[in-house]
Amino acid sequence: MIRLKAAEKLTGVIELPGDKSISHRAVMLGAIAKGRTVIKNLPDSDDSDFTIRAFKEMGVDIRKKRTGSAVVKGNGLRGLKKPKAALHVGNSGTTMRLLAGILAGQSFASTLTGDESLSNRPMERIVEPLSLMGVRIGAKGGRPPLTIEGGDVKAIDYQMDIPSAQVKSAILFAALYADGVTRVTEKFGSRDHTERMMRHFGADIKVDGLSISLRGGRELAARSVAVPGDISSASFFMAGATLLKGSRIKVRGLSLNPTRCGILDILFRMGGDIRITKKVAGFEPAGDVEVRHAGTKGIIIDEGTIPNVIDELPVIFVLAALSEGTTVIRGTKELRVKETDRIASMEDNLKKMGAGIFVDGDTVTIEGVRRLKGADLRSFGDHRTCMAMAVASLCADGRSAIDDIECVSKSFPGFFRVLKRIAR
Ligand code: S3P
Repeated sequence: MIRLKAAEKLTGVIELPGDKSISHRAVMLGAIAKGRTVIKNLPDSDDSDFTIRAFKEMGVDIRKKRTGSAVVKGNGLRGLKKPKAALHVGNSGTTMRLLAGILAGQSFASTLTGDESLSNRPMERIVEPLSLMGVRIGAKGGRPPLTIEGGDVKAIDYQMDIPSAQVKSAILFAALYADGVTRVTEKFGSRDHTERMMRHFGADIKVDGLSISLRGGRELAARSVAVPGDISSASFFMAGATLLKGSRIKVRGLSLNPTRCGILDILFRMGGDIRITKKVAGFEPAGDVEVRHAGTKGIIIDEGTIPNVIDELPVIFVLAALSEGTTVIRGTKELRVKETDRIASMEDNLKKMGAGIFVDGDTVTIEGVRRLKGADLRSFGDHRTCMAMAVASLCADGRSAIDDIECVSKSFPGFFRVLKRIAR
């Protein structure tokens, strides 16, 4: 539990742990590539540790250094060893879904399990396309545990209904093992870290608008990866700095992948003062971002934008709650199947603070208020709900308390330390 009171402003320069999505992919591709992959700025988060642990249990030599880097000695595409027991991936949906694609191409059967929250998350979305690829995969009632036979994989042409980078990536990982070209087409573009990282490791992958084609069967070559700072983790500080008068922060070395920068566009559209002060090209672009306080107003966020800000929506709700006028967010359905139902968790918390939040099916409407009031809040064991409510607490009159804050270690164990350092 943590008690928080209103802050005057946020000031300072911060550098954040490596991006969670990019890190998972770097470890996974390093593990099935040939050679030695060095990964810099790997976050010390629970989720990336679960990915590392799963590959260690399948005979991959992975060493984390104290400097925040890791060395992965890859076993090649089909070189993983049958694990002694079920692979437990904790709360990490990304680990489970992406790993399922890799396990599809191995010569052994395996089982993937998760914690209570992950055991309730939908897996049918990957079971369906992987089954079409000829993979024998099962999930009782469409939920974990997942059982995967492993063996031959067929190339498919798949049109995605659900906007999900995890589903797209599970298919692309399985496609590495297929004999032929797999094509996957999205309705709205989701984060493209898998495509970028696979190309970096030498996969035969082509992107044409919303379609991605991958020719399987080619071994991957180990590469170095420097993981840029996590923009989802940064979003909490960027929102806080926008909301609190007199704030000025600089975030260094942040991931600026266009499929993840939706939060910058939204802050900008709401009237935020956001400046990209340095940009570094690379297979994953990065840069420095400066954020100063600015008055914000409500906007309309459409369904097509949602995949680009899916993890930032909780803090966008907070921004909207303190902006002038009305914010309408459409097509938020996927928020219901995250670590917790984030529409319910955010609605519950924001209402306690006196915000005007109304949910009608997939549409969330938020009427801005001038001030929020301190309250007893709940994280629901969900890292992003917890961090979003911490920002709301700094912008509220009176004291707030948030229960069960350990959940932040899923993506950002040092969150409250950084917050304390920059809050005045
Ligand atoms: C992720 C994709 C998103 C996101 C999650 C990480 C990824 O999930 O919410 O935190 O790394 O591919 P969905 O693909 O289920 O939307």
